Amino acid sequence: MKLLSVVGARPQFVKLAPLCQRFREYPGVDHVVLHTGQHYDYRMSKIFFDQLGIPEPDWNLEIGSGTHGWQTAEMVKNIEPVLLKEKPDWVLVYGDTNSTLGGAMAAVKLHIPVAHIEAGLRSFNRTMPEEINRVLTDHCSTVLFCPTKAGMDNLSREGMKGRLILENARWVKTGEERSVQWCAMVGDLMYEVLNMSLDIAGRESTILPSLGLDPDSYYVVTVHRAENTDNPENFINILKGLAQVSKWKPVIFPIHPRTKKLMEQINRELISADNIKCIDPVSYFDMLVLVKNARAVLTDSGGLQKEAYILGTPCITLRSETEWVETVEMGWNVLVGTDPQAISNAVLKKDRLEIRPQLYGDGKTSRYILEILWGFPALTGDITLKGL
Ligand code: UD1
Repeated sequence: MKLLSVVGARPQFVKLAPLCQRFREYPGVDHVVLHTGQHYDYRMSKIFFDQLGIPEPDWNLEIGSGTHGWQTAEMVKNIEPVLLKEKPDWVLVYGDTNSTLGGAMAAVKLHIPVAHIEAGLRSFNRTMPEEINRVLTDHCSTVLFCPTKAGMDNLSREGMKGRLILENARWVKTGEERSVQWCAMVGDLMYEVLNMSLDIAGRESTILPSLGLDPDSYYVVTVHRAENTDNPENFINILKGLAQVSKWKPVIFPIHPRTKKLMEQINRELISADNIKCIDPVSYFDMLVLVKNARAVLTDSGGLQKEAYILGTPCITLRSETEWVETVEMGWNVLVGTDPQAISNAVLKKDRLEIRPQLYGDGKTSRYILEILWGFPALTGDITLKGL
């Protein structure tokens, strides 16, 4: 079985890592990796391959930055000839970036089935480029791997009713027998990679001493969503909130390249406020250590909301909606938008809770994905990894 993964942006490299490792264990699986080049700085791309032991991509299209339409179109145009040459049985796409949609569109136009990893998530905000990418990718995929029940419910509401259910250690098809799309709740690859990495991150990362930080004595912040970085007013409001927060404890702010560009254009005084420490984007291991030991995380990232929850750190989300609704329902995450007062109030109020049920699967997501792809379409309940 030949699988081709399309990745291009930082969170996709993280999700790719456990799958690469899993696929390598099975000689019957040939896994080709295509990097679109959406993210290209060392600290946004290569450092993740090096740290997580992901082999060099077989293809790097070096597409780089551009407007959404241009970037997505370049991806479709340049992925197509690779697919024609490689002839994979499945194309795997991850998450919600322009690389996700570009990969999915190139594949379905060639009638190559698409497996969407991290399917079914919705913010219900169609002004987010990621929401459009998610909806379109889900609707053209054959197999939809959902991390959560909320994702499964969203797909069901949108008419994707075929289900792959794990029953007595066997995958069975239920729901619409004539469905052309199949949804499976397999947990989250980010949980799996986090479990694989936490010990080694604790041993190898020197981020806390190098920044002079003690556990529970700082906040960690990331901001890069278009709604916050394309709109200077939103971003300035966030900075005002952070300036207040930094009066209580240092604020560590690894700056995404998109955000750095905006910072260069706005009032420097806001940025140098008090105790806000702006640093370059950090590696995956450093981020795990920073989040695990922070008093709280303030972010507009999707992945960090989950990682904060898994690591038991309260999260304050700088958006007015989230795809990771269960972190809010459990009381570990709060949505505050960009109002400075709401941000600082939430920081004062948010504390660790006693109860934190496991929301993101059992850490075997990569195995379930492989089983389903291997056994599809003759999935009857007798799928086994033996003999792959
Ligand atoms: C993208 C994804 C978002 C994901 C995020 C992770 C889309 C629509 N958005 O947002 O879902 O959460 O990645 O980081 O695909 N840049 C660099 N160096 C790099 C990468 C980007 O300088 O290595 C600059 C580019 O000049 C670009 C800007 O950052 O203009 C934004 O990059 P882009 O790839 O468009 O989207 P992200 O904001 O990173």
